[in-house]
Amino acid sequence: MKILIASPEIFPFVKTGGLADVTGSLPKALKTLGVEVRVVLPKHKQIGENFPLRYKNWKIFCPVSSKMVEGEVVESEYDGIISYLIEKDEYFYRDYLYSTPDGDYLDNAERFTFFSRAILEAIKVTGYVPDVLHLNDWETALSAMFLKIHYKNDHLLKNVATLLTIHNLGYQGIFWHYDMHLLNVGWEYFTPEYLEFYGKINFLKAGIVFADIINTVSKKYSQEIQTPEFGFGLDGVLRKRASDLFGVLNGIDYEEWNPETDEKIPVKYNTNTVEKKKINKVALQKTLGLQPSEDKPLIATISRLSNQKGFDLIIPAIPQLFALGVQYVVLGTGERRFHEELEETKKRFPEVLGLKIGYDNDLAHLIEAGADIFLLPSKYEPCGLNQLYSLKYGTVPVVRATGGLDDTIIDYNENPEAGTGFKFHEYTVDAMLSAVKRALEVYRDKKSWESLIKRCMAQDFSWERSAREYIKLYELALKKHGTS
Ligand code: ADP
Ligand code: GLC
Repeated sequence: MKILIASPEIFPFVKTGGLADVTGSLPKALKTLGVEVRVVLPKHKQIGENFPLRYKNWKIFCPVSSKMVEGEVVESEYDGIISYLIEKDEYFYRDYLYSTPDGDYLDNAERFTFFSRAILEAIKVTGYVPDVLHLNDWETALSAMFLKIHYKNDHLLKNVATLLTIHNLGYQGIFWHYDMHLLNVGWEYFTPEYLEFYGKINFLKAGIVFADIINTVSKKYSQEIQTPEFGFGLDGVLRKRASDLFGVLNGIDYEEWNPETDEKIPVKYNTNTVEKKKINKVALQKTLGLQPSEDKPLIATISRLSNQKGFDLIIPAIPQLFALGVQYVVLGTGERRFHEELEETKKRFPEVLGLKIGYDNDLAHLIEAGADIFLLPSKYEPCGLNQLYSLKYGTVPVVRATGGLDDTIIDYNENPEAGTGFKFHEYTVDAMLSAVKRALEVYRDKKSWESLIKRCMAQDFSWERSAREYIKLYELALKKHGTS
């Protein structure tokens, strides 16, 4: 089976969030299972010089509105995975991928219409014709529609089946109806059955309607998004496709995230040497200007600073957290208001709040290795990777029971024999704090805490199982495509 995975970001080329981790590590897991797989992504400015760039004169021409936009497919490679970079500097050579701190790029509709078309033209020009095109999120979703409208008689492309993975329904690519001309499809598609969404155009909706099958990144989230509470207005469309909608939990890449082999942390450790975690803790405290202390509980959050992740609970609760005698560390970047509120809070609690606003992968590893507790009170969470990294590093997760967080963490109080963290349900400061308090109670009992840490570290969320599930979905997509 031949697969092409298309994504707006892929690690290690470029990453802003979990999407890149997933679309970077899934291909490696598929390859190990004998699947032929390649990837395609925009050639962003951030990709830099560290990867081979093989120019083969693969020019592509993509209709965008009334223009024929010329781009080029450049072959590259990471960890043995052949990768196609779509070069179009006018669209992708920018300081950010999707938006600046002040908001989205104004031409995102045009940029990702081009990209979705370029994915298909790349198939033609490179001659790598997959059985299944695996699309990821709204930036690639239009490809599913273009295939069924513009390429339905193309001898190379007409047999290509599609799987669309929704990593986050909170981002749909919604644009005003004046952008319809970019897509080169008629107004007959501007209806509620297709692209129209409350008077606007919705790129993700196009993918949901046209892809052969669809999945999200946990079972729980695949159910949640079919309800008005989590559906962001698309729950009805998703319910309509319920029989083609699946949930496959993300795996994580233990080559990148493993305290036993992690070159980014001061001292490596495993389940037999968990006491060494303390050395990493002190190193983390020193790095962020906190009082070194092996015993004081250290809670941490690494996250995009967005509403989704629960910062409207965290920020008002910070003084109450400190009243519990803990240190707290935040690494994140995102919405300006959260930057400002966190900077303000830092001024009030300089000795116990460790704050780094920015994107810093090395620090993320040090935090996982050094913290005692990982706090993630998301409003919704399709899968979440950081709680899985935390488990591996013996950093006990305190999470809200939603989406992938609910699917991956077992509450300790409910099940002391199997518990791997602490969960709360209501989206309130009180519920969050009471879960933190439950964690701290166990923390004070050294023996119980140590066995909890060891149990966390023994959990296995490696890719193999998830990759096998994706193979089943690819087979299903092919079957569906053959009969549609
Ligand atoms: P999401 O994709 O919704 O942001 P995930 O938990 O799936 O959430 O993935 C987040 C990924 O991004 C993790 O690999 C996490 O370590 C990383 N990450 C998030 N913010 C930062 C940051 N400021 N610095 C370094 N890594 C970060
Ligand atoms: C999204 C989600 C996150 C998920 C990631 C990778 O960004 O917010 O929960 O883990 O995609 O699938």
